[in-house]
Amino acid sequence: MKQFILKEAPDAKLNISNFELQEVDLPKPEDGQVLVRNILLSIDAANRTWMQGRTYRDQVVAGDVMPSYSVAEIVESKDPEFKKGQIVTADSFWAEYSVIESRDVNKCPDNISLPNLLSLFGIAGLTAYHGLFDVGEVKASDTVVVSAAAGSVGVYVGQLAKAIGCKVVGIAGGDTKCKKVVEELGFDGCIDYKNANLVRDLKTHCPEGIDLYFDNVGGTVLEAVLIRMKNRGRVVCCGAVSQYESSSPIGPRNIPGFVITKRLKLEGFIVMDFKEKHMEAITHMTKLLNEGKITIVEDITEGLQNAPKALVNLLNGKNFGKSMVRVAPDPYEQKMS
Ligand SMILES: NC(=O)c1ccc[n+]([C@@H]2O[C@H](COP(=O)([O-])OP(=O)(O)OC[C@H]3O[C@@H](n4cnc5c(N)ncnc54)[C@H](OP(=O)(O)O)[C@@H]3O)[C@@H](O)[C@H]2O)c1
Repeated sequence: MKQFILKEAPDAKLNISNFELQEVDLPKPEDGQVLVRNILLSIDAANRTWMQGRTYRDQVVAGDVMPSYSVAEIVESKDPEFKKGQIVTADSFWAEYSVIESRDVNKCPDNISLPNLLSLFGIAGLTAYHGLFDVGEVKASDTVVVSAAAGSVGVYVGQLAKAIGCKVVGIAGGDTKCKKVVEELGFDGCIDYKNANLVRDLKTHCPEGIDLYFDNVGGTVLEAVLIRMKNRGRVVCCGAVSQYESSSPIGPRNIPGFVITKRLKLEGFIVMDFKEKHMEAITHMTKLLNEGKITIVEDITEGLQNAPKALVNLLNGKNFGKSMVRVAPDPYEQKMS
């Protein structure tokens, strides 16, 4: 079977040449493990941070098989909890097949399409939901700004906030993305940070000031938004993708200055902090989906061989919505055809 290892850890910008495709024997599961066939790999900005050092998980170092969250099918189980043919989500790898400890495998509802298990009903939607409602305590009267607005989390932050009545302005790279966010997803506006004076344009879009900023990027974008926050505004610190490839990361220069004078609340979170509330989030988002108030946006790349390219593309802003790689055909679609 085929698998990718991280051949060489990147110094700054990740390149597809940092990975190597290998052919190895099919692994065998032992007691407490399962062998899965990976179907969809979740491509996440966080994959890049795992190469920088220990985060909420071990560092990925040269020689490691590249880890990845995935949707997979059980091929062989050495744990009575899991049966051959079951569809699961798992802490898996960039590989055709993986042996995984069964504690890192989760059963899935069978009424959700497999790509949706990674997008609206997976990390992307759940991060948007918990960040907005549980951390940001969003209110209908809020003016909400979200960065990486056309990315996997950002598209749902904006749509969830719009659905409860907020005014929503996105920040994204490029005119095409900004147009799509407004015309296809119903945001009230979107600023192209690559071609803008952010501080001025935020004032134009949000003359009343910003109540809630959902920050996916950190750096100079965060610095500009802080200038336009209302007193007692809330900043949800979800990610800092602008810094993941930088050899000398920079923070906003107005922290703590503006945090103090504007009495701001900044709070970080990891989506798994809210594991107990995932069902509540899924129920809320299913209702919105059925009411036509939310559009699912998925960006699927075909073939395991293209996994490095998909990650490099995401870090360079070439995705729209949730990025994933299809490694094997979808068994649900095969049953229907
Ligand atoms: N806290 C949590 O539990 C949690 C969970 C999931 C994700 N996250 C975070 O959420 C954010 C989104 O992650 P994702 O995996 O869903 O990726 P994504 O938003 O689908 O893609 C990343 C996007 O970031 C933007 N970007 C790249 N470089 C940038 C820069 N220098 N300045 C501004 N924007 C830049 C690009 O869009 P443009 O074209 O707009 O530049 C790119 O499309 C990341 O920061 C990630 O770490 C956090």
